Amino acid sequence: MDFHEQEQEKPVVLITGCSQGGIGHALARAFAAQKCTVVATSRSRSSMGDLDQNPRFFLQELDVQSDESVQGVVDNVVQRYGRIDVLVNNAGVQCVGPLAEMPLSSIQNTFDTNVYGSLRLVQAVVPHMASRKKGKIVNVGSVTVMAPGPWSGAYTASKAALHALTDTLRLELSHFGIDVVNVVPGAIKSNIGNSAVASYNRMPEWKLFKPFEAAIRERAYFSQRSKSTPADEFAKNTVSAILRTNPPAWFSSGHYSSIMAIMHHLPICVKDFVLRKAMKC
Ligand SMILES: NC(=O)c1ccc[n+]([C@@H]2O[C@H](COP(=O)([O-])OP(=O)(O)OC[C@H]3O[C@@H](n4cnc5c(N)ncnc54)[C@H](OP(=O)(O)O)[C@@H]3O)[C@@H](O)[C@H]2O)c1
Repeated sequence: MDFHEQEQEKPVVLITGCSQGGIGHALARAFAAQKCTVVATSRSRSSMGDLDQNPRFFLQELDVQSDESVQGVVDNVVQRYGRIDVLVNNAGVQCVGPLAEMPLSSIQNTFDTNVYGSLRLVQAVVPHMASRKKGKIVNVGSVTVMAPGPWSGAYTASKAALHALTDTLRLELSHFGIDVVNVVPGAIKSNIGNSAVASYNRMPEWKLFKPFEAAIRERAYFSQRSKSTPADEFAKNTVSAILRTNPPAWFSSGHYSSIMAIMHHLPICVKDFVLRKAMKC
């Protein structure tokens, strides 16, 4: 096999939400380090500017909430490379606040990004993967689903929905040679805390929940403490799992991933006790 043919064999990976400082950016670099061709996407090209000069990357602007944006990028990639081997639905938003008072529009935006955004990409990519009887779809969930706590109900519900969609897709798409993987991060260093607080600052003042203001703000940064796993370390482990010939159905790693797996099996009263303490509820 000559060099050109070898390059043609390398997986073409499309990743959403690749802004610098986040998990998507780290995944993009980790796939590139495995000699994949990486279609790194984000809402603004400037947020991935540092990848621009490396020929392993094809940078595209993509908003997961827009049909036109998603279809346009998928068409560009298929035209350029003839295929998409791996789709990573990484783009996501955290959303903190008390469920009983949060604007429904904030909850809707969270689902539009985390759930419908991911499904929009799946629907655009599956016809191409099915026609080749080959492909991998990776949805990025969250360990918070293992033990849903206070102040991040909208986010956790959206990720729980994504986990359920992922399990269904794995069964439905296996007929077409498509593997579906749920990547379930623990606490990983990224921009997620700052983005969550920026959205939170736009919410109205709470009526009943004013006394919990500090606890809610703290929840936004819960995954960003000093012991959180560096995104590069998480990305390296995740990419090696995804690139296996038979990738796992569930891949969880990062700080808190083991604790949350244990929490999941605890009696509800114990779970509630721990979460009340941890989240100052
Ligand atoms: N960090 C953690 O501890 C952790 C834990 C569990 C799960 N996760 C999940 O991991 C994924 C990556 O998050 P992260 O921690 O890396 O957070 P992040 O640094 O905030 O990155 C999120 C990415 O999603 C993008 N995004 C948001 N809305 C979008 C839209 N409508 N269209 C396209 N892209 C959009 C953001 O773009 P902008 O830069 O334009 O906003 C950014 O590139 C998310 O699904 C998150 O829920 C993270």
